[in-house]
Amino acid sequence: MLAGMKILFAGDIVGSAGRQVFQRVTERLRDEGRIDLVIANAENGAGGRGPSPEIAEALLGAGAAALTLGDHTFDDKKLIPLLETESRLVRPANLPPDAAGRGMTTIETGEGAVCLISLIGRTFMNPADCPFRTADKLIGMAQAKTILVDFHAEATSEKIALGHYLDGRVTAVLGTHTHVQTSDEAILPNGTAYITDLGMTGPKDSVLGREVEPVVQRFITGMPQKFDVSKKDPALEGVIVDVVIKSGKAHSIERIRERA
Ligand SMILES: [Fe+2]
Ligand SMILES: [Fe+2]
Repeated sequence: MLAGMKILFAGDIVGSAGRQVFQRVTERLRDEGRIDLVIANAENGAGGRGPSPEIAEALLGAGAAALTLGDHTFDDKKLIPLLETESRLVRPANLPPDAAGRGMTTIETGEGAVCLISLIGRTFMNPADCPFRTADKLIGMAQAKTILVDFHAEATSEKIALGHYLDGRVTAVLGTHTHVQTSDEAILPNGTAYITDLGMTGPKDSVLGREVEPVVQRFITGMPQKFDVSKKDPALEGVIVDVVIKSGKAHSIERIRERA
């Protein structure tokens, strides 16, 4: 059996605690020989909101080979010029055609090329083009056998359905957006590595990354609250997928939750 490349895909990075734990844990896992390549969803990188150009560049500098985004892509308008020029930033491909940035990129590794695609869901989310048909189109254009899909979506049904729809045609379908890690990681019947949600790279003692008390008060009182980002108990959640890059075949998917 060919030796695989161990690709860490980290769930949504949230705030400064998330950025710090991302850097520390990825350094340690590299030192331990557990990972070879790092990709992360960075859509909440700046205080829970979409990253600034400085934060996106810092995360790339901290060892991310590429970053995916999501519904928070355009929170910081200053990111727009960087989205146009930085090929390692990937926003959902099924946004309107005139949206800034790219929905697919190719990462060169020592073992060959890796194609990274971002898609956003339509169930309980803002309108977007069909992620299923967009995936069909992009897979046809992919410049690599190894294709990783970040499906940024709310509904577990939509995510599981896309996993099966793409089973055997891509290397991995990895869900993001909910910030809650699911325990359904698997190699699907036709060989695609799958998980409904990678979880969050951020403060675990929180409500999806925000301080607990204001969120509780909002639910109880119905009144607006300031949702500061928590810094408590940061952890990196995601998966390590072992992939033979040249064939695009995923051998295994391991779910991880690592504290610095
Ligand atoms: Fe999101
Ligand atoms: Fe998120």
